[in-house]
Amino acid sequence: MKAAFISTLQCLLSLSTPMEPVTAWPDLEAAQVGRSGPCGYNARVSVDYNQPGDYWGNSVVATYTANDIVEVQWCVDNNGDHGGMFTYGICQNQTLVDLFLTPGYLPTTEEKQAAEDCFLEGELKCTDVSGQTCGYSPDCTSDQACYRNDWFTCNAFNADTNRACQGVDSAALNSCTTTIAGGYTVTKKIKIPDYSSDHTLLRFRWNSYQTAQVYLHCADIAISASGPGSSSSSSTVSTSRTATTSTATKTRTTTASTTCTAATTVSVVFNELVTTTYGENIFITGSISQLSSWSTSSAIALSASSYTSSNPLWTVAIDLPAGTTFEYKLIKKETDGSIIWESDPNRSYTVPTGCSGLTATASATWR
Ligand SMILES: *[C@@H]1O[C@H](CO)[C@@H](O)[C@H](O)[C@H]1NC(C)=O
Ligand SMILES: *[C@@H]1O[C@H](CO)[C@@H](O)[C@H](O)[C@H]1NC(C)=O
Repeated sequence: MKAAFISTLQCLLSLSTPMEPVTAWPDLEAAQVGRSGPCGYNARVSVDYNQPGDYWGNSVVATYTANDIVEVQWCVDNNGDHGGMFTYGICQNQTLVDLFLTPGYLPTTEEKQAAEDCFLEGELKCTDVSGQTCGYSPDCTSDQACYRNDWFTCNAFNADTNRACQGVDSAALNSCTTTIAGGYTVTKKIKIPDYSSDHTLLRFRWNSYQTAQVYLHCADIAISASGPGSSSSSSTVSTSRTATTSTATKTRTTTASTTCTAATTVSVVFNELVTTTYGENIFITGSISQLSSWSTSSAIALSASSYTSSNPLWTVAIDLPAGTTFEYKLIKKETDGSIIWESDPNRSYTVPTGCSGLTATASATWR
């Protein structure tokens, strides 16, 4: 049997099933879901989202009408915008979906994969929504399996502007909430299928381009049959946040291609937008020794090498211990040596954990 194996951002691997490497890219459907199931498994905290829990699986959060076009949204974390492509799906086999909605029942790996196959079969294609722009991923070439526009695509991973998934909406940081580093909304439209159910699941799957990871999540929805005469001309737009907005960290279930050495330090790039006048310089200081323990005299200098008047970027990369939470602030040093602190509150950041080589970004605007 072809079996995927699922790791976490901490690279914990403890599976009894046979394993072989899988990749998230370029074949978007090649990665089998293993214990992640269609709704995600977070091995960091050992929570399996494939069975009802405190915040999912119990009650419907949005009711849609068959054949309606609705707007759906997820939230990409500022620390983990890996680019790539994503899809939504509805599995039209209630018997199968009910296995994921039964209190106390944890679906088997085989049931998880059967449901995953069903969700992919019930894919809600970008191209089903007339008028919606459905492009190809700039990170995919036409000879690759990812060259398809029925999935939704993020922008080019290395684009200078509007990059990766945050570039889809180009919304401001914290336009949605994540518990890691703040997030950006990613909004698209899907067409609800001609199907009805009192309680089913809208499934989200994001295949990362940068890393061998697949992020998964489900939202509880109901679908009512279209009323007589309403046909497809009705276009009530509702918003389902597919639960990822408020629970982004829960979806950090990942498919990894190999075991890895856990990072002890992570290179964190601080990208700070600060408009300065000639002679002013920007420094960072904070609550850990790597950030000079709140000293202003030994605070770490940021570089203005990419500064432009339209993008006043000050930046520095600092190696920080994985998993550490700290507070920090930016300071401006004036030409006369005086110091201007950012206004309260202190900024807070948690260095992610993951495989060695992991990098992260903390972005902020002077306040
Ligand atoms: C629904 O899924 C179950 C479990 O995989 C399967 O036995 C059944 O044949 C499926 N029903 C339909 C109509 O496909
Ligand atoms: C910021 O951190 C410093 C140093 O720990 C502390 O003295 C100060 O009260 C903090 N500021 C706020 C607003 O919490």
